[in-house]
Amino acid sequence: MLTEQQAVEAAEWHMRSWKLFRTKKHTFTAKLFEPGKLYLGFSNTDEERSSDDSYASWKANIYGGVFYLLSISIPQRRRGRGHGGALYKICEKIAADLGCHRIQQTPSGWSMTGKSRRVYLHQRGWLDVPGSSEVFKDLRRE
Ligand SMILES: CC(C)(COP(=O)(O)OP(=O)(O)OC[C@H]1O[C@@H](n2cnc3c(N)ncnc32)[C@H](O)[C@@H]1OP(=O)(O)O)[C@@H](O)C(=O)NCCC(=O)NCCS
Repeated sequence: MLTEQQAVEAAEWHMRSWKLFRTKKHTFTAKLFEPGKLYLGFSNTDEERSSDDSYASWKANIYGGVFYLLSISIPQRRRGRGHGGALYKICEKIAADLGCHRIQQTPSGWSMTGKSRRVYLHQRGWLDVPGSSEVFKDLRRE
């Protein structure tokens, strides 16, 4: 059974390859709610600003072999240069490493170029969950 420490170690190992990870401070949080149900989150403080917009972060609930990506965000001024796309890919790798067969998210908002987040994710291999507003990616095909 996955432990909080194993989840944090796997997340940190993969996050080291993300370009914006090399900032002064980062935090990983894991909380096992019950056997097989885990919350995992990452946030960093990007440079020295203190507003919410200066943080990169993602949060996920993990259970039943699914990595439910609750949120993912990077600072506004860093967007549109591939850092967000790279962060999504890293979340996929963390999910697969933790034994998940799929990553899933409720898409919201728009990309820098005006595309809906749903379309943005469709173009990166995500599919609609039938009968739901969520999208997912099958990690067994990666
Ligand atoms: C979601 C989020 C993390 C994506 O981050 P990002 O760094 O802007 O994402 P990318 O740079 O990978 O992609 C954004 C666009 O820039 C384009 N892009 C990437 N690198 C580029 C470059 N070097 N030159 C020009 N365009 C580029 C991408 O192709 C993409 O265009 P598209 O939407 O037409 O496909 C970011 O928008 C964010 O934090 N949003 C607020 C929170 C949010 O919406 N979260 C998701 C909820 S579902």
